[in-house]
Amino acid sequence: MNPVTLTILCDNTAAMKEGIRAEHGFSVLVETAEASILFDTGQSGVFWHNAEVLGKDMMKIDRVVLSHGHYDHTGGLTRLAQAGKSFEVLAHRDVFARRFKKQKDGTLKFIGCPYNHEYLKSRGLVFRFVGPHEEVAPGIFFIGEVPRETDFETGDPLLVLEDGNGKIAPDPFRDDASLYVKTPGGLVVILGCSHRGMINILRHILTLEGGAPILCVIGGTHLSRSDPAQTEETIEALRSMKIASIGVSHCTGLDAAEEMRHVYGERFFRAMAGIVIQIDEKGGTSIR
Ligand SMILES: [Fe+2]
Ligand SMILES: [Fe+2]
Repeated sequence: MNPVTLTILCDNTAAMKEGIRAEHGFSVLVETAEASILFDTGQSGVFWHNAEVLGKDMMKIDRVVLSHGHYDHTGGLTRLAQAGKSFEVLAHRDVFARRFKKQKDGTLKFIGCPYNHEYLKSRGLVFRFVGPHEEVAPGIFFIGEVPRETDFETGDPLLVLEDGNGKIAPDPFRDDASLYVKTPGGLVVILGCSHRGMINILRHILTLEGGAPILCVIGGTHLSRSDPAQTEETIEALRSMKIASIGVSHCTGLDAAEEMRHVYGERFFRAMAGIVIQIDEKGGTSIR
């Protein structure tokens, strides 16, 4: 089996490595022997800065995949647009939906992709709409439109969108997507924000892949603003899945992350900016 390397380029927290910066957002470089994919771009050029600090050349990536349209995953597209290369960007076709967060005073704050499709196209980015289940590089799969099946992953009521008829409606996150890498030893799963529910996503992948073992799961779980009961049920459901290692990031929040650390012990880690995870030929995971 070829090793899989995951380098966290943007996260809400930064590892203790010189020069690494944090911001609210998420971005990870996924590398195999055959492909180099940037999954999400954070909200600014921080991912590019951290890549330089870590010795990763962004000009060499094969393509970009977006987990969904929120600004904290798509804002860094402008940094790619400045690079003078026609990067291919894969995403669900709803990635440019007009999305908002309900504020305490009842007003709506725009939190969608800060740039529209035409502008990004004019700057050289080539979008290709994909999904719901598609191999985007050898052994690397995009998985979206995940069925909402659990009763505890109810979604975030503060997140809404303009439904196309000028009406504001709960955001169904049709574009919420994850990546997984298929290796002979099992699956490596990379979540964006898990707006369709972390357990819904993992169960859906396991159904598609015939219950293959999961070697590693990293990424955002959106437990930071969920009901505490959802965190409990999520932890319980994860326990029955026998995942070898879990590294949470971004919108998981520190409280839910601490609860997970308590339950999973050595199988748990924080996938912070600057962390490099390598899943080796035997399925073993090293984190540095
Ligand atoms: Fe996010
Ligand atoms: Fe999000």
